[in-house]
Amino acid sequence: MRIAVTGTNGQLGSALLEWLEKWGRDEVKGLAKPEGDITDRAKVNHLFQEWRPELVLHPAAYTLVDQAELDPAAAYRVNGLGTQNLALACAAADIPLVYISTNCVFDGNKPTPYYEYDAVNPTSVYGRSKLAGEFYVQTLLRKFYIVRTSWVFGPKPGNESNFVTKILKVADERGAASVVDDEISNPTYAPDLAAALLELVETRAYGLYHLMNEGAASRYAFAAEIFRQTKRQIEIKPMKLADFKRPTPPLYQSALHNFAASENLGIRLRPWQEALAEYVQLRNF
Ligand SMILES: NC(=O)c1ccc[n+]([C@@H]2O[C@H](COP(=O)([O-])OP(=O)(O)OC[C@H]3O[C@@H](n4cnc5c(N)ncnc54)[C@H](OP(=O)(O)O)[C@@H]3O)[C@@H](O)[C@H]2O)c1
Repeated sequence: MRIAVTGTNGQLGSALLEWLEKWGRDEVKGLAKPEGDITDRAKVNHLFQEWRPELVLHPAAYTLVDQAELDPAAAYRVNGLGTQNLALACAAADIPLVYISTNCVFDGNKPTPYYEYDAVNPTSVYGRSKLAGEFYVQTLLRKFYIVRTSWVFGPKPGNESNFVTKILKVADERGAASVVDDEISNPTYAPDLAAALLELVETRAYGLYHLMNEGAASRYAFAAEIFRQTKRQIEIKPMKLADFKRPTPPLYQSALHNFAASENLGIRLRPWQEALAEYVQLRNF
């Protein structure tokens, strides 16, 4: 199969590329900027005419959540219109598209994890821009997978920057860390998610899914586990989201519930603590 993967310099895009290359079964084309810029309709259409992909995996996104509040057009351009370009091309070629979405489509006010069927109500520009992408995929395509995930961490080419690397940097510089204990979601290891996505596309069970490592955690609990696993004695001070000033509105409880893939397809990821242990070992943190 000819598979195109967007955003292959990102955490998830590079993990997808790595699994596909390891398996060696498919012809794979990675799309990264500038040649693989999804906001450029002519480039997207040219790819489809020249290379004729049979499946598109689409993790590319504008992921600068705070910056999106200051520059909404930048987020809408990539997450909305870039996704529209891909969805239109996939619809014309009658091939499936896998769109990666986010816990940020919810408003964070539900006390328990979100089902795929819970009402969306994004409070941030980033969340609205990702929901715009969902809308294009749902309305333009018959064959699609929309997969929401959350708090992705993992290897990435170049500057590896995620919650794990950031909190370790702070801790190593200051010997202490202040971390919010009222922001809750699911830490998710990019290579685990990539493997689950490839399992999902084999099923041809098109639809809406929540895929993330099992278990929810507060940022505080996530940080504590990172320090425990990396054997650091770090003092962690609990903070509240309300005390942490940033451009994006606070998102309290946005953990997801994997109902559809788990119930219907038997696809679920391992607990996040196990995935974190693999990452810590890989990177020798
Ligand atoms: N990271 C999280 O915590 C998280 C949580 C929930 C959902 N998600 C979703 O999961 C997916 C993967 O996230 P990730 O953590 O792998 O993100 P990431 O590491 O930031 O990777 C995103 C990639 O998309 C690329 N990109 C941006 N604009 C593009 C464009 N116009 N054309 C082509 N590529 C473009 C970026 O390239 P440049 O860096 O060169 O701009 C980057 O390599 C995204 O769809 C994201 O919305 C992520």
